[in-house]
Amino acid sequence: MALSNQHLLSLATFSLYISVSLAFFPGYTTHFMGSGFPNEAHPLTGLCPEYYQFTCPQADEIVISVLKEAISKDPRMAAPLLRLHFHDCFVQGCDASVLLDDSKYIVSEKNAVPNMNSLRGFEVIDQIKAQLEEACPNTISCADIIALAARGSTVLSGGPAWELPLGRKDSKTASLKGANANIPPPNSTIQNLITLFARQGLDQGDLAALSGSHTIGVARCVSFKQRLYNQNGDNKADQTLERSFYYSLARVCPRSGGDNNISPLDFTSPVKFDNYYYKSILVGRGLLNSDEVLLTGNEPFVVSLIKTYAEDEALFFDHFAKSMVKMGKINPLTGYNGEVRKNCRRVNGAF
Ligand code: HEM
Ligand SMILES: *[C@@H]1O[C@H](CO)[C@@H](O)[C@H](O)[C@H]1NC(C)=O
Repeated sequence: MALSNQHLLSLATFSLYISVSLAFFPGYTTHFMGSGFPNEAHPLTGLCPEYYQFTCPQADEIVISVLKEAISKDPRMAAPLLRLHFHDCFVQGCDASVLLDDSKYIVSEKNAVPNMNSLRGFEVIDQIKAQLEEACPNTISCADIIALAARGSTVLSGGPAWELPLGRKDSKTASLKGANANIPPPNSTIQNLITLFARQGLDQGDLAALSGSHTIGVARCVSFKQRLYNQNGDNKADQTLERSFYYSLARVCPRSGGDNNISPLDFTSPVKFDNYYYKSILVGRGLLNSDEVLLTGNEPFVVSLIKTYAEDEALFFDHFAKSMVKMGKINPLTGYNGEVRKNCRRVNGAF
């Protein structure tokens, strides 16, 4: 039986209707309206929260269950999973390039200065991927897994949740050079931070809010040593370090050696996602130079946000959630660009 032109036309109209109504799903557009925080509605990225609604509705549940188990075994595991999303998105976009191992075709970002001996959580991502491949084969991209794990880790640490746009595809390339050039170093000046965030389309508000990730997790001595012993090439400590804090750090981090000794980024509540990070900065107890310069860099808008977040945790949570959504939309591969990797460590078809 042949379809009449009339039928074909209505079929075409119907599928057009479906795709349009999916792209402009009501819950998706209204969510971001009237927030007052600089974050435009974002239909242009092609990402949407309902992306796996029909192909893998249980995806987030699976992610959360793996995260819960990983974090119960190692309470420090939430932080590196949150950080992974940042280190992914800042290097050729949120495309899981950070997960690719060295191979004949890939120069892994894992060996970049900000990542080597520092990034963790890759095994947890592998576990999530394995369970998702079992439940919904060839469906959930590794880039979306990183985004889901970052949100889940935040929530499980007591932080905010957010509606998460999905539909990222995975890259077939990585960029070691990009990782070295685009991820800000811990001894960054405020100008340096603003510049590197602007390069990703992120503003001073995003910088102030996203730095709040340092409410959980740790840093190695090598990441803050310069502040203790040679802040300005004069063999002196950073004068903005509060004195007793300086002495406690010096015990963990000697002038020579001890590079891998760790200290919490928010020593008041190192595994709880809260606003103590900002309170610490106000009293000269930000661990990294990049933390303390948010205040001491005298950039008025950033300074005002740091002070506000220290007072108002709810506002910090709200801005953090919005900035995470914004960061998660940096240059994603969508549609027929990229692929859904079978194994997050390798490009499909490569061995
Ligand atoms: C503003 C610029 C930033 C700089 C300069 C910076 C730098 C660093 C450094 C040096 C460490 C410690 C690494 C080590 O010593 O091994 C660290 C840890 C961490 N960073 Fe950042 N970061 C920044 C922004 C962010 C953002 C935007 C996020 C997430 C959205 C984030 C999440 C984290 C987390 C959760 C940890 C703890 C990791 C762990 O415990 O393993 N950071 N960061
Ligand atoms: C940051 O550290 C790097 C590596 O140790 C060094 O080359 C650079 O000069 C430092 N930057 C600042 C602003 O101190």
